[in-house]
Amino acid sequence: MTFEDIEKLKDQLNQYAYSYYVLDQPEVTDQEYDRLYRQLEVMEQEHPEWIRPDSPTQRIGDTLLDGFTKVTHQTQMYSLANAFNQAEVADFIKRVESQLDEPVSFMCECKIDGLAISLSYQDGYFIQGATRGDGRVGEDITSNLKTIQALPLKLRSPLSLEVRGEAYMPKASFQALNEDREAQGKAPFANPRNAAAGSLRQIDPRQAAKRHLNLFLYGAVVQDDFQPVSQADLFRQLQDLGLRVNSLNRLCHNLDEVMAFIDEIDQKRNHLSYDIDGVVIKVNQIDQQEKLGYTVKAPRWAIAYKFKAEIAQTRLIQVEWTVGRTGVVTPTAVMEPVQLAGTTVQRASLHNIDIIQALDVRIGDHVYLQKAGDIIPEIVSVDLDQRPASSEPLDLPTTCPECQSELTRIEGEVALRCVNATCPAQQLAGLSHFCSRNAMNIMGIGEKVLAKLLSENLIKDPADLYYLTVEDFLTLDHVKEKSANKYIDAIQYSKDNSLSRLLFGLGIRHVGVSAAELMADHFGHLDKIIKATPEEIETIEGIGPMISQSVVDFFEVEANLDLIQRLKQAEVNMEQVSESVISSEATSFLLDKTFVLTGTLSHYTRSQAKEILESMGAKVTGSVSKKTDYLLAGEAAGSKLTKAENLGITIISEEDFIEMINEGENDE
Ligand code: IVH
Repeated sequence: MTFEDIEKLKDQLNQYAYSYYVLDQPEVTDQEYDRLYRQLEVMEQEHPEWIRPDSPTQRIGDTLLDGFTKVTHQTQMYSLANAFNQAEVADFIKRVESQLDEPVSFMCECKIDGLAISLSYQDGYFIQGATRGDGRVGEDITSNLKTIQALPLKLRSPLSLEVRGEAYMPKASFQALNEDREAQGKAPFANPRNAAAGSLRQIDPRQAAKRHLNLFLYGAVVQDDFQPVSQADLFRQLQDLGLRVNSLNRLCHNLDEVMAFIDEIDQKRNHLSYDIDGVVIKVNQIDQQEKLGYTVKAPRWAIAYKFKAEIAQTRLIQVEWTVGRTGVVTPTAVMEPVQLAGTTVQRASLHNIDIIQALDVRIGDHVYLQKAGDIIPEIVSVDLDQRPASSEPLDLPTTCPECQSELTRIEGEVALRCVNATCPAQQLAGLSHFCSRNAMNIMGIGEKVLAKLLSENLIKDPADLYYLTVEDFLTLDHVKEKSANKYIDAIQYSKDNSLSRLLFGLGIRHVGVSAAELMADHFGHLDKIIKATPEEIETIEGIGPMISQSVVDFFEVEANLDLIQRLKQAEVNMEQVSESVISSEATSFLLDKTFVLTGTLSHYTRSQAKEILESMGAKVTGSVSKKTDYLLAGEAAGSKLTKAENLGITIISEEDFIEMINEGENDE
């Protein structure tokens, strides 16, 4: 065997993989590929010195990553301004044409709903891949990107080049992954994009490889030896280099052609094997792109037309009422299963009584469903024409579905509440929150164990956990000495946690991970928070009146003070030992970003949205300027919206906002 033999076999395998994954035209059977692959493995074992970086055996590393290091992009990775209707597309085209004052053509492409990535090649070899991050600095995810079979480890020409595109999880992989997760009792991912994000941040590339991601490239950093003249030319050149390019694109010359393409794609999108959320319209000629330039966030030569949320129709079978951690009783609609934007939906939150009454939704009704922020299914309306004659308004519960005590509706609140502090459903939800990953992180103690402990009367609240003994655990069914010891160890270990975890774990209304951290960092000790006035708490940047009042209310309740006392006696740490131990993705993502809010929101008041943003480290200002990063536009947004559009500021809807604040929490 010679070096050339290995090279030949390697090149042949790479060619087969290219035909299969990039061109979608398999040349050989899977068995034949596997046979040759094993042959290469054997040869490489004999001559490890001949292994080249583009060998298919080098795709899946077997060492665990030690976090993700930062990567500075060669040039900024921009995002895109959005258009939501034909008029906004027309405005874009008009603006471009008047600025250029010469004929313009537009390349229209699918807007792939995945994660923006940047790939660096040196002398033709793939050397590094990164996430977009804040646009200037991203995270190094090379090992996980290498597991994507369509990503060439070597280009067809020895260029040094940074290319840009989107990594995504095909719908089929997403469905298989979620089925698998549910079978294992893990929470399913909300959508393919979150699943792709989670997969690319796996610390074990072998796990990432199992997620079967794919990618499309649509951009590159132009340089001396790579100078496409147009977006169409760029596509050709990327393709010639062996990179995967989406073939659903079209060169258009006017608004009508652009809108026709958008409509065609909208019709097709449910049948595609990947999720798209719109169409990107780009000025085709690169010299024209350069003339138009960029705003801080986005190119002036492109816009993303966002599809309207999909709507599905189904029938309401029943409404379930469940009690949450804070005693709020929430209704969930159970419906005949229906396909909606890539998933099967049969449950949707009805939120509260006001919403039920506004919709006047009844059992047996035909209802229309939509996904908020492309994630959360919601009933948007009822088809009154199809309502059965015998239908009656929904029965609203008067007693708690768990403990049967009388429900109350607090003045000024829409929620129905079970105020029985010993309601088992609330106790369980509260305990489970206390033990959860971002709170005290008591490993191994999940809902099942907690439910058993509760029903055996061994615990009532979180403090009781710290008084449990190995013998207590042994009285539970199926618990052996080994697990009992493990549970006790995990509980003991949690005593040293920082204050921020404890504070979040207490489950005070509106106190999320970030607010808990801000308060813990500021006050340093729980006793100081207990003694603080709302005004003192509000001096913390990012904490507003809603959160501060809620904290003060919590510590005015005798039972809560008693709980703290028992935690102290059990020697649970009450001090902030290190700063920012649990900062979430979302926190860093929104940190120092400037928002302006305008129009009417439907899920929050503007001041609530402001408070949420501030508690996550963002700034909220009153007027739009060049410094604004995002405009959150609700219904009937006025002049601020126009101004933001003119300045090319990223405009987000309430759904985008909800998605933003949930980002990170959906990650693994
Ligand atoms: S072009 C400077 N083209 O959409 C050019 N982006 O909302 C900026 N995206 O961050 C991007 N498909 O992750 C472009 N065909 C496409 C795209 C695309 C998906 C993503 C990309 C970007 C985001 C902006």
